[in-house]
Amino acid sequence: MSFALNAQCGLLTGSIITLVNFNFDHVPDRRGTDSQKWQKYADRDVLPLWVADMDFPAPPAVLEALHRRVDHGVFGYARPVKSTVDAFVDALAARYGWNIDPSWLVWLPGIVVGLNVAVEAFAQPGEQVLSCTPVYPPFLTAPKNSGREALAVPLALNRAESRWEVDFDALERAVTPRTKLFLLCHPHNPVARVWRRDELVRLGEFCLRHKIILQSDEIHCDLILDPGLPHVPTALLGPEIAANTVTFMAPSKTYNLPGLGTSIAIISDPKLRAQYVRATAGIVAEVNALGYTACEAAYRDSEPWRQALLAYLRGNGEFLKSVLARELPGVRLEAPLEATYLAWLNVEALGLADPVAHFEKHGIGLSDGAFFGAPKGKYVRLNFGCPRATLEEALRRMKAAVK
Ligand SMILES: Cc1ncc(COP(=O)(O)O)c(C=O)c1O
Repeated sequence: MSFALNAQCGLLTGSIITLVNFNFDHVPDRRGTDSQKWQKYADRDVLPLWVADMDFPAPPAVLEALHRRVDHGVFGYARPVKSTVDAFVDALAARYGWNIDPSWLVWLPGIVVGLNVAVEAFAQPGEQVLSCTPVYPPFLTAPKNSGREALAVPLALNRAESRWEVDFDALERAVTPRTKLFLLCHPHNPVARVWRRDELVRLGEFCLRHKIILQSDEIHCDLILDPGLPHVPTALLGPEIAANTVTFMAPSKTYNLPGLGTSIAIISDPKLRAQYVRATAGIVAEVNALGYTACEAAYRDSEPWRQALLAYLRGNGEFLKSVLARELPGVRLEAPLEATYLAWLNVEALGLADPVAHFEKHGIGLSDGAFFGAPKGKYVRLNFGCPRATLEEALRRMKAAVK
């Protein structure tokens, strides 16, 4: 395997210091592949910085495990083996001090599937599913898919503190006896916010008080960019909140494996878990064999790669911020990039009716903020999970677009 030297990572494992190098500067050619991200602009010179996958190969340990699994050659219906479960359980204990029982796990072929199942499991047709916007679009579409109502409460931008906050007063005003489920994005896509313990406790208590199940989507939890901010799993906040919470996690964002469709719901309460599992019956496909293999190698053997990735993404985030501040005054990042590789950019000052179409004309493919529940024309989301050279070129094009 040819991984040239670039991002350096020193890892302290007991008394052993391992120095590992990975090359995140390498630009893989994804044109002409099955990539959704790149197919969108197959016949145009547009750099795709939209959908949330990264232009990096998976960690070497994952690739090696997949090669071994492919060489085995038999791909029957799969179930996770003990070593796969252990890899995940051990990672949660090591990273977050969360000791989970393997019986709490429900394996899913994707979190969007899981969100839609949660809506069917915990709300009846006509009942309401609450979330805070802007938010990952399936939070808003999942309720509508099955005749439930999506109730969206905007996050508040605290300008003095430069941070997005949950507007608890607005939540209290919005909630009704028909509100049955709260979809929390933690860390939050697209505003890149890591929710703090006190905010989570307040949210957890809000849900308990109103008898609302709390769905905590923590798919981005291993991608914290601010090293001073710990990720606190919602279900760690106490027994009552834990018993009312369904957590989603996955190796897909962190290790760039979304095409392998392997995700996990963690549900400690047996009744809640049974209700959830019932809603999957006959609809939710099995996780595929390669997904389990990749998941195990990701959680067990790819920590040095993850640390190197985080260092690289922090560098990309800093670069993005400095270019915006110095050279793109009409494009504003309103709050720090605490987590994820997604930047939520206010482009209102540019006065464009359709900013995404405008940027596409200039060779950059972004996500439209309106899909996340933001006012049309005000925000775009930029994915900086790519080699620095791609980001540099995208920002060069962006400067030309706003001239
Ligand atoms: C918060 C959140 N949940 C879920 C997903 C997608 O999950 P999956 O690919 O497993 O359906 C994304 C992808 O960007 C996401 O940001």
